[in-house]
Amino acid sequence: MLTPAANEMLTRVGPGTPMGNLMREYWIPACLSSELKADGEPMRLMLLGEQLVAFRDTNGKIGIMEHRCPHRCASLFFGRNEEGGLRCVYHGWKFDVEGNCVDMPNVPAAQDFKHRIKAKAYKVVERSGFAWTYMGKREQPPELPNIEIMMLPEEERVTRVHMRECNWFQSLEGDIDTSHFGFLHVGGVEMEDVSPNDMNRWAVADRAPDYKATETEWGTMYAAYRPADPGSVYYRFAHFMFPFITLTPNGYFEDQLACTLNVPMDDTHTMTYNLAWKKKTRPLETLKNGDWIPGLQPQVEYLPNTNDWFGRWRLVARRENDYFIDRDMQKNVNYSGIQGIGRQDQAMIECMGEIVDRSLEHLAPSDRMIAITRKRLLEAAQTLMREGKAPATVDDPDIYRRARGGAFIAPDSMDWLDAYADKLKTALSPLGLLQRLPLAAE
Ligand code: FES
Ligand SMILES: [Fe+2]
Repeated sequence: MLTPAANEMLTRVGPGTPMGNLMREYWIPACLSSELKADGEPMRLMLLGEQLVAFRDTNGKIGIMEHRCPHRCASLFFGRNEEGGLRCVYHGWKFDVEGNCVDMPNVPAAQDFKHRIKAKAYKVVERSGFAWTYMGKREQPPELPNIEIMMLPEEERVTRVHMRECNWFQSLEGDIDTSHFGFLHVGGVEMEDVSPNDMNRWAVADRAPDYKATETEWGTMYAAYRPADPGSVYYRFAHFMFPFITLTPNGYFEDQLACTLNVPMDDTHTMTYNLAWKKKTRPLETLKNGDWIPGLQPQVEYLPNTNDWFGRWRLVARRENDYFIDRDMQKNVNYSGIQGIGRQDQAMIECMGEIVDRSLEHLAPSDRMIAITRKRLLEAAQTLMREGKAPATVDDPDIYRRARGGAFIAPDSMDWLDAYADKLKTALSPLGLLQRLPLAAE
């Protein structure tokens, strides 16, 4: 459980809040690069509780700025995306992607003061299919995080996006709550259903594993472990990485290049991005006969986008329709009665309420990772507030490359962290495929 005060600190991300300040030390994925076209429509963008407008100019550069025009605060969402800038339609002031006022046509030339006017604009770079923005105080922002999956060539990576109507940390806790996997997702699957070649059959053989968890340079990590064949242990490793990233264990450690970003739009809406390597194997999604595990076949349908602050990437299955729960399916086919892993997760995360009251909880030993991740984040926010010191990942983006999630089997005589370090050495082979991608906007 958490006290109401700690819950407030953990969940609120608006300007000036301790967690909001921690987030603003990092580059934030604002949207997909593909969402903005040169000279195309400006887009309303809500990030960390700030109402912004995003547009791509004639030269392909992205601008992300406060949506209210510095003149008399009309929304630049209604602006004309013209040659080299966005022009407010109220009195015609025009702004480039850096927020400079480049035209002030309603003022006589002799009284023009455009050089003194600047819209509040944030720095933007593009990499790995995202427009990243830096909303912090530094003149010179830090580097972008070097996360393995983000460094793969574009054509080898798949990115899925959906908005969640709940707090960002609730969404993130769903990623590191591994204990639910054996129930919500595969509660109807028996060990005999899974191929004997799939080591993940141990996950359904024993649904009450033990856990190890520890703080790390990048955030926190855990391993769920249970006995496998005599003399060996089946591990599932996963990580939290500052400020809102997770590496989940749903794959084999060797090729599990993936991550999830839980980007806070405001305190009660989160844009979740799932990135995965196209070549990774996908265990425990199919039965030994090759069919999908009942209820796991993805069902991702979107409502049409609107121009609303929260009008992008909304799923059809949502709170209002109970995620299309089917009670017959729940009794006879799969455990939850909800179709698709993503939809099952969305239902559980959103059904707690927009910001869950964590004073009502009774955490179990299976929630150790959740408990230490809360502590790590709260301490990081407090250290920044009191000492002005940010976590090491802000200034050393290579720290992220030491984290990898996934499942493997190791001798039971080995310490869990030694087993991880050992496995990481051999699992690094995909790194041979990786290359540092240039920043498109540099
Ligand atoms: S309010 Fe934008 S130009 Fe006047
Ligand atoms: Fe899940």
